[in-house]
Amino acid sequence: MPDSSTPSQARDILVTSALPYANGPLHLGHMLEQVQTDIWVRFQRSRGHSCRYVCADDAHGTAIMLTAEELGITPEQQIEQMHAAHLADSRDFLIDFANFYSTHSQENRELSESIYKALRANGHIAEREITQAFDPEKQLFLSDRYIKGSCPRCKTPDQYGDNCEACGATYSPSELIDAKSVLSGATPVDKASLHYFFTLPAFEAMLKDWTSSGTLQAAIANKLSEWLDAGLQEWDISRDAPYFGFEIPDAPGKYFYVWLDAPIGYMASHKNLCDREGLDFEAVWQEGSSAELYHFIGKDIINFHGLFWPAMLRSAGYRTPTAIFAHGFLTVNGTKMSKSRGTFINARTYLDHLDAEYIRYYFAAKLGSGVDDIDLNLEDFVQRVNSDVVGKVVNIASRCAGFLRKGFDSRLEAECSEAALVQEFIDAGENIAALFESREFSKAIREIVALADRANQYIDDKKPWVLAKEEGREAEVHAACSVGINLFRVLMTYLKPVLPAMAEKAEAFLNCSLDWTALDGALVDHQVTKFKPLLTRIDPDRVEAMVAATAAEAAPKQAAQGAAAAAEDSGDGDTTIDFDTFAKVELRVAEIVAAEHVEGADKLLQLTLDLGGEQRNVFAGIKQAYPEPEKLVGRLTVCVANLAPRKMRFGVSEGMVLAAGPGGEDIFLLQPDAGAKAGMLVK
Ligand code: 2FM
Ligand code: ZN
Repeated sequence: MPDSSTPSQARDILVTSALPYANGPLHLGHMLEQVQTDIWVRFQRSRGHSCRYVCADDAHGTAIMLTAEELGITPEQQIEQMHAAHLADSRDFLIDFANFYSTHSQENRELSESIYKALRANGHIAEREITQAFDPEKQLFLSDRYIKGSCPRCKTPDQYGDNCEACGATYSPSELIDAKSVLSGATPVDKASLHYFFTLPAFEAMLKDWTSSGTLQAAIANKLSEWLDAGLQEWDISRDAPYFGFEIPDAPGKYFYVWLDAPIGYMASHKNLCDREGLDFEAVWQEGSSAELYHFIGKDIINFHGLFWPAMLRSAGYRTPTAIFAHGFLTVNGTKMSKSRGTFINARTYLDHLDAEYIRYYFAAKLGSGVDDIDLNLEDFVQRVNSDVVGKVVNIASRCAGFLRKGFDSRLEAECSEAALVQEFIDAGENIAALFESREFSKAIREIVALADRANQYIDDKKPWVLAKEEGREAEVHAACSVGINLFRVLMTYLKPVLPAMAEKAEAFLNCSLDWTALDGALVDHQVTKFKPLLTRIDPDRVEAMVAATAAEAAPKQAAQGAAAAAEDSGDGDTTIDFDTFAKVELRVAEIVAAEHVEGADKLLQLTLDLGGEQRNVFAGIKQAYPEPEKLVGRLTVCVANLAPRKMRFGVSEGMVLAAGPGGEDIFLLQPDAGAKAGMLVK
C-alpha cells in the first residue's frame, strides 16, 4: 500500500462508499461508513494528494419497485425523492462527495451493457433454466423474503422462506408449511425460466492471487479464502420482468440483477464527474492504471466486492481495486439498532437534534482499521465529545484568545518563545498521519487528545490569568497565549478531516488555512481575529429527545400495521380475534432487571426487562400491588414482546407484562415455572 509519509509525491486516489438503496432513508449505520470514508478522503487532501469521493444511490431491484407501488408513485419518482433526501442528509453530515449520482443513469446503463457484452464475448456468461417460487396473482418471482409460512420443524407460523426465527432451522421456501406470498397472500407455484450466470469459477486462480496480494484486511482475506477453498459457484445475474432495472442486451424481459449494476455504479458516478469536469476517466479505470481505487464497505457485502466485482473488472479489461476497506456494524448502547428502543436512528432525526460534528468526532474516536462492530454508547458519546472537543481542544483557544485580544490587539508574539514545543507538536504529525492513512482513527484521536492535554498543562503551568494581574509581566502573558494559540493551530490541523466545520471557524479565528502541508513552524507576529465559540457542549436532553423521536417515528407505523392486520383478520368492531391473530402475539419470558417508581404516577412502575440479551423499558400499572418495586428485581415474568411501542406521558413503553387479578392491590404478575430463561418464547 502506498505510504503517505511523503506528501511531496501527490497521489491520484478515487474512493467510494457503498451505494445506499433508494427505498429508504439513511440511518446512522450509513453515516458511520460515510463519515469514515469522508475523514479518510479529507485527510488525503490535507496531505496534498488528489482524492475524489464518488457515491450514488442504488436505485434498482424488486424492493424499490414494490415501495413505489405501495406509495402510488413510479419507481423513477421514488428514486428521485430518495436521491434528494440522501444527498441532503450526507451534505448535512458534512460528507464531501465529488459526485453523488444514481445507478439509474445513462452512464450506468452504457457501462453495464458494455461490461456484460465483454463478459459474454469472453465466454463468461452461461445460460440455463431454473425453477423458482412464483406468485400467480402478482405475476412475480418471489425471493425468500417475500414468502412466509409455518416452520417445517417447530411449526411456528409467519416465518420467512429461508429460516425460522423461533427455532433457527434453515430450509428452502418449498418446505414451508402453507407457504404464502407476502405480496398477495397467494400460494406460490414453481415456475421455470431462463437465467444468465457469470462464470465465477473461471476466476478462481485470479481471485486467489488478488485476495492474497497483501492489500486486504486480514479478516477479509481469511473470509474470502474460506469461500475460495469451498469452491466458487456461478452467479445468477439476471431477473425476470417485472423488475426495475436495466434490460439485458439481446434478452427481452430479462433484467440485470441489482447487484450486477450496483458496483458498476461506482464507475458511472465517476464517469459522470469526469465528463462534467474534463477529467480522464480511462486513466483511472484502465488495466495497469497508477491511480489508486478504494471501496469502503460494510462487512456484510464483502463477497460482492471481493469476488464478483474484481472478477468482472478483470474479464472486462479494467483494473481491479487497490484495496477494499471493510468496517463492522454500528450498535447503539451495546445492541443491534432497534426501532422500538429508539436506537434505529435515521440520519435526519439525528440532525434534527444534534450537530453532525459531535458524531463525526465520536465515530473517529471509535473507528479502527478492522471489522469489529462500533458501539455508539449514548452516555459515552455525550461525555466524550464534551470532554475532549469542548473541554480540551476548544478550551486551549478560548483560554488564550481573550488575553491576546485585551492586551495585544490579537497579535501573536514576534518570535515564538517555545519554538521547540510547537515543533514537537508538528513532528507528532507524522505518526498521526500514518494512523489516519491506515484508518486507525481512534489511535490518531488518542494521540491528538494527549497533545491537547499537554497544551492545557502548558497553559495551566504558565497561568496567564494570574500573570495578567501582575505588573510588568505582559511579555509572559503574551508568550503563553501565543504559544497556546500555536498549539491549538497544530491540533486543529490534525482534526480538520474529522471536524471540517469547526476547522473552518478556527481558520477564521486564526486567520490562516489549516493544511497539514502548511505546518512548518510557529505562526509569529500574526494577526488573529475575535474568538467566537467553535462548538457548544452536547445537551443530554437533546440526545433523549432524539431517542424519543425515533421511537415515536416507529410507533405509529408498527401500530398501523398491527391494526390493519387485525382489522383484516377479524372484521371491524368485532372483539373476538381468530387464531391467526392470536398466534401473532409474541410472548416471551422476561427477567425484571430494574423496577422503579415513576415520579408523578399513581399506578405505574417503570420496569427494565431483559429478554435474553435485549433490554426493554416497560411501564406497568401494578404499583398498588407491588409498592416495593425493588423486590421485583430478579423475578421472571411474561412479556408481550411484539407490541408496538407506545409513547406515554412518562416515556416510551416497549412491551407489556402480563398479570392477572381483579385490579388494585390484587394484581399478580405471571411467573413462569422454574427452569424458564429470559428470552424464551412462551407457547
Ligand atoms: O447493501 C447495500 O446497501 C447495497 N445497496 C450496496 C451496494 S454497494 C455497490 F456495490 F454498489
Ligand atoms: Zn422453527
